[in-house]
Amino acid sequence: MPAVTFDAPSRTYLLTTPTTAYALRIDEDDTPRTLHWGPRLTLAQAASLPLTPGESSSFGSRGGDELGVEGGARFGVPSLQLRYADGTGGTEWRHLGHGVGDGTLDIRLADRHYPVEVTLHYRVFGDSEVIERRVTVRHTGTGGPVELLRADSAAWSLPPRADYRLSHTVGEWCGETRLRRVTAPVAETVFTSRRGVSSHHANPWLMADAGDADETHGEVWSTALSWSGSWRITAQRTPDGLLSWTGGAGHEGTRVTLRSGETWRTPAFSGVYSPDGFGGTSRAWHTHIAAHVLPLPDELRPVVYNSWEATGWDLTEQGQFGLARAAADLGVELFVMDDGWFGSRTSDRAGLGDWRPNPARFPEGLAPLADEVHRLGMRFGLWVEPEMVNPDSDLYREHPDWVLHMPHRTRTLLRHQLVLNFAREDVADWAHKWLDRLLTEHAIDFLKWDMNRAFTEAGWPGHPDPDRLWHDHVHAVYGLMDRLRADHPGLRIEACAGGGGRADLGMMARSDQIWISDNTDALDRLTIQHGYSQLYPARTMSAWVTDSPNTNTARTAPLRFRFHSAMAGALGIGGDLLRWSPAERTEARALVARYKEIRPVVQFGAQYRHPDAVQYATADEHVVIAWGTPRRLRLAAVDAGARYRDDVSGTVYDGAVLRGTGLPLDLPTGDLPSVLVRLERVDGEVN
Ligand code: DGJ
Repeated sequence: MPAVTFDAPSRTYLLTTPTTAYALRIDEDDTPRTLHWGPRLTLAQAASLPLTPGESSSFGSRGGDELGVEGGARFGVPSLQLRYADGTGGTEWRHLGHGVGDGTLDIRLADRHYPVEVTLHYRVFGDSEVIERRVTVRHTGTGGPVELLRADSAAWSLPPRADYRLSHTVGEWCGETRLRRVTAPVAETVFTSRRGVSSHHANPWLMADAGDADETHGEVWSTALSWSGSWRITAQRTPDGLLSWTGGAGHEGTRVTLRSGETWRTPAFSGVYSPDGFGGTSRAWHTHIAAHVLPLPDELRPVVYNSWEATGWDLTEQGQFGLARAAADLGVELFVMDDGWFGSRTSDRAGLGDWRPNPARFPEGLAPLADEVHRLGMRFGLWVEPEMVNPDSDLYREHPDWVLHMPHRTRTLLRHQLVLNFAREDVADWAHKWLDRLLTEHAIDFLKWDMNRAFTEAGWPGHPDPDRLWHDHVHAVYGLMDRLRADHPGLRIEACAGGGGRADLGMMARSDQIWISDNTDALDRLTIQHGYSQLYPARTMSAWVTDSPNTNTARTAPLRFRFHSAMAGALGIGGDLLRWSPAERTEARALVARYKEIRPVVQFGAQYRHPDAVQYATADEHVVIAWGTPRRLRLAAVDAGARYRDDVSGTVYDGAVLRGTGLPLDLPTGDLPSVLVRLERVDGEVN
């Protein structure tokens, strides 16, 4: 069946993914309304469906608008809010038609009176369960401006169920992506960031189930925004039992003016329906992100060394040489020098914006270090924070007007820094010039792109439409990353914002990995990684082994546990290697070598979460990393008729046993025990 079909008599559209379907109808009022989001249906079945219950009246709650507007008997959260020059607000829909392409559907709508056209864009993929949605709003008249108060990317409505539960992540600096599952209140629940970044506090996705799903079973409806700035998703459960949500870029209280002929494009807000529980949902997202989001999904992520926790601000050229040699000796493949290499940046109080090597620290520039790192057989990476400036910098002294600011308002300093207004073309050009020069003149293979503070006093004096900066800043960052990648094809990027403050699909589309938290405590990380994995794949999850006791939490942990925790993602090392004992280095060398053996399975395999364990599976191999107390683990995705050999002990297991009784886990005794097992399929079926 083609991925997009239309039944003209009932004005029903049907989108199909490999195993799911999404249907909507243009109702008698010309309003697009959700019909179905769930298992596969035929077009005839979709056309026969009634619209979602719910009435438009003073006392009822109407459900299922594909993009809720203001006006008529609608009292829910609008997805689209417009104001026209004469003071009128709201929208009355007129259906103009549609365009169908290869996996795409564009539904064209207009206001019945005012000069606005809105297109609802849908996209489905032959190899992914994701339905991607976004919206464009166009001022089609010649008259006065149209004010855009809100333009969400999509609204999603769930089928009626007896109960609903919401899943989302909460967080803070050093404690991102902690999973929460709560009964959906009969209320409006807002998930948002007003910080100019997607934020540590809430990650821009939302899932719902009927309260009965677990890792392996049950229906789950999930959605995620491809956006790295402020955002808002508002879920609404009405007293008559319906659950829906609307989401998009930006937070409340901003307004943008659309001029005649202008088009506003929202980012994507994509959705997945899965009947296979939270595990199936996560794997559907991981598959999609690999197939359609990441720039280089099939490239193995290197073993990184990053010097931040080892040196802090006491960074010296000789110290970097020493760390680079120690890292190379362990098998590290990419050496990254973090903050403190430029300008007068010897603390967080000065130097941001002055992107020249600090002459006292690097008298001959970066070349000697870059050359040495390359000579040692590693790639060379550098920390940058292009969107920021310290007031104590030459850049700020020269261009105090380049930052977000408002007349008569204090320029709030956070971490002693201000945000450069990348929405300004001159600022974005300046950033492109120095980054391009840095990459051209030095052999830099990798940038860790940091962003360490929220927007405040987000003004743009002199600009007629200052709230655009919330949107334009993000697009300028995207544009800059895209351009640098295109012009420097060897460049790889790690996205970071004080840890996981900008871990989202928007960043993922132009980076290779994400630094998901400044908390490198291996035990805390397991919680953060669990939440991160709900949507994002392991290959993007940068994780370092650092010192014990941990610098953030003071917890001591065996080296093996620290490695096992980090080996569940893209392994890196961030400890002060020069203080590691010879025995620790020997153990670390072996664990790095082990990681390289299992890396293709961890980074490219399907991920199965178990209590106190995580499993990665390809057709022929399984890697299990377990911690805590489990003594046996019933494996997923093994072939009951096959045999699997533990590549270290040589023990051979029947697949049926691994599925049924489980894999025996030989966890050591002592604090924070952990074990890693690799099973390879061996030839010959079990009789
Ligand atoms: C915040 C990052 O998350 C850290 O890893 C480190 O790069 C510091 N910034 C440097 O200032």
